[in-house]
Amino acid sequence: MSAQRKDQDRRLAAPDIAARKGQAPVVCLTCYTAPMAELLDPHCDVLLVGDSVGMVLHGLPNTVGVTLEMMILHAQAVMRGSRRAMVVVDMPFGSYEGAPEAAYDAACRVMKETGAQGIKVESGPTIPATIAYLVQRGIPVMGHVGLRPQAALIEGPFKAKGRKEGERERALAEARATADAGAFAVVVEGVAESLAREITEAIAVPTIGIGASPVCDGQVLVTEDMLGLFDWAPKFVRRYADLKTEIGQAVEQYAADVRARRFPGEAETYFGKS
Ligand code: KIV
Repeated sequence: MSAQRKDQDRRLAAPDIAARKGQAPVVCLTCYTAPMAELLDPHCDVLLVGDSVGMVLHGLPNTVGVTLEMMILHAQAVMRGSRRAMVVVDMPFGSYEGAPEAAYDAACRVMKETGAQGIKVESGPTIPATIAYLVQRGIPVMGHVGLRPQAALIEGPFKAKGRKEGERERALAEARATADAGAFAVVVEGVAESLAREITEAIAVPTIGIGASPVCDGQVLVTEDMLGLFDWAPKFVRRYADLKTEIGQAVEQYAADVRARRFPGEAETYFGKS
């Protein structure tokens, strides 16, 4: 196998994504399972094993109840189902906000037990110091500023940031500190275009926007939102499919077939002596 072929086949990693600043937009989607990873991998640069898994797959009211064990199990599945995209794993609430040493132990577990290429943390005021601690010890870190879902208990229901006094300055300062601490990219969530532009221009690593306008260096969405699996989705989601309706229709048809003894038919039945 030639060196060139090998390079094409290898998984993307933090330096590849960092090098995309101002280049071709970074394509990112959330992913929690192996079959979905197989579907997304050929089209995405980054698969984010987001702690949104708690709300999307486990029916939790927010991301606060998500555990490290849940993240590791889902990340292992995503790694098995993908081969080319960089896999980034969200550090759940409570696993990195304390001492940097504890954050390092938790992040090491994620890296060793999943084989993922990086982790993501929400960049609250004390977090840049932890990001620097992790990066200096070999762990690629993606930051997350603007609307921070793990702050739901303090900040209330998810709302776009940058309209209230101080929010703009805070998001910009946190993005700067996150990039200066060595993050390879920063998710910017739920902010007005003008703030997303200011952040994107202010930092040297790619911004990955979610509800943060087209000015970011890349985009991420929750896959189940863009596939139309839920009745409600935030304003910034474009629905590329209507899987909720399709699944409902398919299951309705299956139930009718079973009740009418139309399923299974001859094609789905084994014949011969048993
Ligand atoms: O958990 C998640 O899915 C995320 C994205 C919304 C960026 O953090």
